[in-house]
Amino acid sequence: MVRESYKASVPGSLMLFGEHAVLCGSHAVVCGINRYITVNLIPRDDQIINISSSLFGKCQQKINNINIVAPFQYVLAAIETYLEQLKYGFDLLIESEIPPQVGLGSSAAVTVATLSVLEQWLCSQQPNSRSLFNNAKQVVQKVQGMGSGSDVAASIFGGVIAYRIDPLTIEQLANKPPLVVVYSGNKVSTKDVVQQVTSFQNKHKNLFHHLYDSVDECVQNAIEAINNGDWARLGELMNIHQGIQDSIGVNNKVLSELIFTLRQHSNVYGAKISGAGLGDCVVGLGNLPNNYFPDNKEQKALGVQQLNGLCIIDQSDVKM
Ligand code: MEV
Repeated sequence: MVRESYKASVPGSLMLFGEHAVLCGSHAVVCGINRYITVNLIPRDDQIINISSSLFGKCQQKINNINIVAPFQYVLAAIETYLEQLKYGFDLLIESEIPPQVGLGSSAAVTVATLSVLEQWLCSQQPNSRSLFNNAKQVVQKVQGMGSGSDVAASIFGGVIAYRIDPLTIEQLANKPPLVVVYSGNKVSTKDVVQQVTSFQNKHKNLFHHLYDSVDECVQNAIEAINNGDWARLGELMNIHQGIQDSIGVNNKVLSELIFTLRQHSNVYGAKISGAGLGDCVVGLGNLPNNYFPDNKEQKALGVQQLNGLCIIDQSDVKM
C-alpha cells in the first residue's frame, strides 16, 4: 500500500539591499534563489513525530509534549502552531541544499516548508500565500526574537521583491540582476549581529536616523534601477550601501577583501555584504567564472567559497 505523503519544496533567499534598516522601517530588496529545502510529511497512526534531516540528523517527539530544541527549533515551533489540529504523529523528512551557516535564509525556508506540508495534510488545501507568510514570519520572530520577514517573503513569492514591514509591501520587481555570491567562511548569528548594531545605534541615535534614511533612499533608487535593468547604476548603489554597512559596524577585513576583489573585476558593477554581516556572504553584481574564489591561500584556509551557479529564481519557479 502506498502511504499518503505531503511535499513542499521552498527556496532560500538572499538579501540585496536594506539590511538592518529594514527592521527600523526602511525598504529592502530580497530575492528567492535556486537552492531549496524540501520537506516530506508522512502521517503515522500513533502519536510520534519523527524528524529526519539531511544536515542535522534525527529527532523524536510526541504530539502531546513538544520541546522546542536546537537544531530543529524552527521546525518544532512551526509544528506547535498546528498543535490543536494534531491527532496523530508523522514522519518529517527534510532534504536541504542550503548549508545553515551561509546565511541564505535556511531558517525561513524550512519554516515555510514545514507549515506548508502541515496545512496540506491537516486542512486538505494548498496554503494561502498571505496566511503562510504571516504564520511563518511569526514563527521565525518567536524563535529568533526578531526578524523583518523579508526572507520569508522571498521564500514564498520568489523572484526579486521590494519589501517593507509597515505598511506591509511585497512587490515583484521587473528584472533579475546577475549575481556572484561568495561565502566568507564564517557565520555570526543574525540575532547577535542585530543586537550589536542595536546597541551601537543606541549610542548614536541621531546619526543612525540619517544613515537609515540614506539606506532607504538607496533602496528606493535600487528598486528603480532593477526595474529599468540599469546594472551600472545598481552597482554604484550597492557600493554606496556597503559604505553604510561599514558605518553601522557590520563589516570586517575578510568581507572587505572579498568585496574589493569583486569590484576589481571588469565584469562586476558593484559589491556589498549580503545579510546581517560580520560573516555570511558578499554579493557582487555581474558575472564571474566559477571557482574565481578563493583567490589566495589565506582565503582558502578561512573557508571562503564561491557559490557557483547560484542565481535568482522566477516567481513561477516557486511551487509549494
Ligand atoms: C539579515 O539577513 C537581515 C537583517 O535585516 C535582519 C532581518 O531583516 O530580519 C539584519
